[in-house]
Amino acid sequence: MTTADPRLDGRAVKRIAFDAERIAARVHELGEEVTARYPEGDLLVLGLLKGSFIFLGDLVRQIRRPLQVDFLVAASYGEATESSGHVRLVYDPETTLEGKHILLVEDIVDSGRTLNRLIGLLMERRPRSLDVCALLHKHVAEHLQYEVGFVGFDAPNEFLVGYGLDHAENFRHLPYIASLQ
Ligand code: PRP
Repeated sequence: MTTADPRLDGRAVKRIAFDAERIAARVHELGEEVTARYPEGDLLVLGLLKGSFIFLGDLVRQIRRPLQVDFLVAASYGEATESSGHVRLVYDPETTLEGKHILLVEDIVDSGRTLNRLIGLLMERRPRSLDVCALLHKHVAEHLQYEVGFVGFDAPNEFLVGYGLDHAENFRHLPYIASLQ
């Protein structure tokens, strides 16, 4: 892909970190891993919006077992209360979580703050199990309290856009993941 991509609106990307073919191959593998690892029981795949919307759509089509899909939209309370670890759900899943296997789907784990807050909150709903599937993991989080069970790619510590990831809400629709200049 060149910087002449019309989707970029004249912006240059430094490089393509993961092209569409590589993403599709890995998402297929992740679907196989999820299919193989989950035992019997209700599986609820929870996509954290907005970043996960493309990944979730591709992933669930590679999982060969019954499941349900719902979404979460989260917002932190802001700087003043960040240290308290509070997260507010702007959209709360309609489906009950209690007694179900929950697979939380994230586009990227960066500082780990989002996961640290959300997992605690979801555990209060008493799921049968709770695991995370992240397409990208930067491995820079110093205080990540939970292990991410499914990781697509170890990601470079660069500003990444595309395949759901944005810069100021732009570039989510790129079919590849690029490092922004
Ligand atoms: C991004 C991304 C992850 C989170 C990762 O979400 O989608 O959810 O940040 O960062 P962290 O590990 O440092 O917490 P963002 O808040 O930008 O919202 P978005 O999903 O709507 O893009």
